[in-house]
Amino acid sequence: MKKSPVNLAIFASGRGSNFSAIVKAIKQNEIKVKLVILVCDQPEALVIKRARIARIPVILVKREDFPSRADFEAAIIQRLKSYKINLIALAGFMRILSASFVKRYHNCIMNIHPSLLPDFKGAQAIEDAFKHQAPFTGVTVHFVDAEVDSGPIILQQKVNINKRDSLASLEKRIHALEHKLYPEALKLFINAKLKIKAGKVYLS
Ligand code: GRF
Repeated sequence: MKKSPVNLAIFASGRGSNFSAIVKAIKQNEIKVKLVILVCDQPEALVIKRARIARIPVILVKREDFPSRADFEAAIIQRLKSYKINLIALAGFMRILSASFVKRYHNCIMNIHPSLLPDFKGAQAIEDAFKHQAPFTGVTVHFVDAEVDSGPIILQQKVNINKRDSLASLEKRIHALEHKLYPEALKLFINAKLKIKAGKVYLS
């Protein structure tokens, strides 16, 4: 039976290094997916420039242009439907999606987080691990559920924090790992290798 194509949207608000890592993996034929659109909520974000260079259409949706989060999300959903999006990759998207949005795209929204979840949730995960002098931290790619930085874990890898590390050197290693793990996780999804049972991901 012919597999239905995976139409990917990346949601990002900032620098976009994960966006570029995914674009590169697609170009190098490591993952067979159509990256259809970038959804961005910040007009000045560097990721927009990256998308323009990669010739990926940008959907700019500013929260302040809508009276409520429901209206903001409705506008996004309308675009996702028109582009037939069936997979969403959050890559530094600094907005929390509502439970109803997550339900609509159940197990079709991934996120990358720079820690070994459930440790160090939140926006300052690398800094928090560093400040707490944790012996290690890591990177997690997970499906998104209604909670923040939560949901079935797809891939997770540890990064040791060495005595000689500065915050910058730790960040550098974590981001390098992110750029490897996100394309790997997408590949597992695209090749239908991920089975979810009772909130856990199993590789088949
Ligand atoms: C990454 O560290 C990612 O784990 C987190 O936000 C950051 C986005 O970085 N969710 P970039 O915009 O992809 O460079």
